[in-house]
Amino acid sequence: MKTSISKTLWQERENLVSKASAAYTSVFIDKAKNATVWDVDGKEYVDFAGGIGAINTGHCHPKVVAAIQEQAGKLIHTSFHVASYPNYLDVCRELTAAIPGTFAKKAIFFNSGSEAVENAVKLAKAYTKRRGVISFTNAFHGRTLLCLTLNGKHKPLRQHFGPYAGEIYHAPFPYAYRPPVGVDAKDLTEHCLSELELVLRLETAPEDVAAMIVEPVQGEGGFVVPTPGFLPGLRKICDRHGIVLIIDEVQSGFGRTGRFWAMDHEGIVPDLVTVGKSLAGGMPLSAVAGRAEILDAAPVGSIGGTYGGNPLALAAAKAVFEIFREEKIVAAGARVGETVRKRFDAFKDEFSFVGDSRGLGAMRAIELVADKKTKTPLPAAKVKEILHHCEDNGLILIKAGAYDNVLRTLMPLTIGEEELERGLSVIETALREVKP
Ligand SMILES: Cc1ncc(COP(=O)(O)O)c(C=O)c1O
Repeated sequence: MKTSISKTLWQERENLVSKASAAYTSVFIDKAKNATVWDVDGKEYVDFAGGIGAINTGHCHPKVVAAIQEQAGKLIHTSFHVASYPNYLDVCRELTAAIPGTFAKKAIFFNSGSEAVENAVKLAKAYTKRRGVISFTNAFHGRTLLCLTLNGKHKPLRQHFGPYAGEIYHAPFPYAYRPPVGVDAKDLTEHCLSELELVLRLETAPEDVAAMIVEPVQGEGGFVVPTPGFLPGLRKICDRHGIVLIIDEVQSGFGRTGRFWAMDHEGIVPDLVTVGKSLAGGMPLSAVAGRAEILDAAPVGSIGGTYGGNPLALAAAKAVFEIFREEKIVAAGARVGETVRKRFDAFKDEFSFVGDSRGLGAMRAIELVADKKTKTPLPAAKVKEILHHCEDNGLILIKAGAYDNVLRTLMPLTIGEEELERGLSVIETALREVKP
């Protein structure tokens, strides 16, 4: 039960804020530190949502806070279009060095993941002088018009918002837990790649396609890890046809999967990468980085914006790269992921309604079903009940997935062992007590 300040504020939120803005919990936050959050009534929560994956280095990391404070006293904003500042170059250097590929690389900054995706596609179109884009079923790339057209889920992301951006084609993504009827999970890579070839033959033509955009692990789609060989298969098809391969690491990057990038698990060298979320420790910053000739292909002034690459956000990002090195965040994340994996696998063994336990590193999830044989998704009301139980018992946890039946973990990778175990135990109790 919420105490009075939270309740009052919740009522005000209902009155003042657009109902189109999702509310995964009813927590009103006062402050946060590493993986702990306190609400306005002083109630403490373990945070398994991490600002939807934007806080891999923990809430209010002292280095991030100090960097922002120092920068705020010097320069808050000029717009990079008007006057340049060194922080921008420092983070470009870090980012281009961090992404795979031995070719010349460049980067450009924006404010949100959606903006990064939008601009990566624009750059690919300018570079190739082609108009088509391939994305995948169950994908999520953002909420702007181009991004929502790229998304592979109609409701609620696209519904009512047409007409959509043109010449976007969806190909199937290999979702091993839910393969198409008659297709064995072990044949999914081959199946999806041949379906993609069919899209390139029947829906459009390869020489008309500018870009292919893919999440190396689907985020909002429910932490779906593509079957082995799928991403390398895309790389080959793109190479064959001169299509720009955009890897969207907005949610999966920055140590979330046990490697710095999720694409590293399959050794993918992308043409462009989109990043956001944990890039700047909670500050709004995103980027497109990759092949210099693609970054240079659009006309001067056609890409950018007033706030893109804000000095405060860049100061935070610089601190984030240092924290990754000093605190070995990637290894820490892999350890967190292993602890979560063991508990989630045990949940799958124990509970009749935990159909799948999957993920990479700390990007882990369980998919809840009414029946393990038919895989009928657990009804939304039941999933909500489990999430509410977690919230009442001091855990912030969020869902995802095509059927909104996937519980996913996006906790800071810096979370302490005791807190991690406490959060996992809250999930276990919720699964035990909220019987479907
Ligand atoms: C893979 C991916 N791409 C793009 C986005 C859009 O980012 P933003 O919400 O910052 O616009 C998200 C957000 O969850 C994402 O997970």
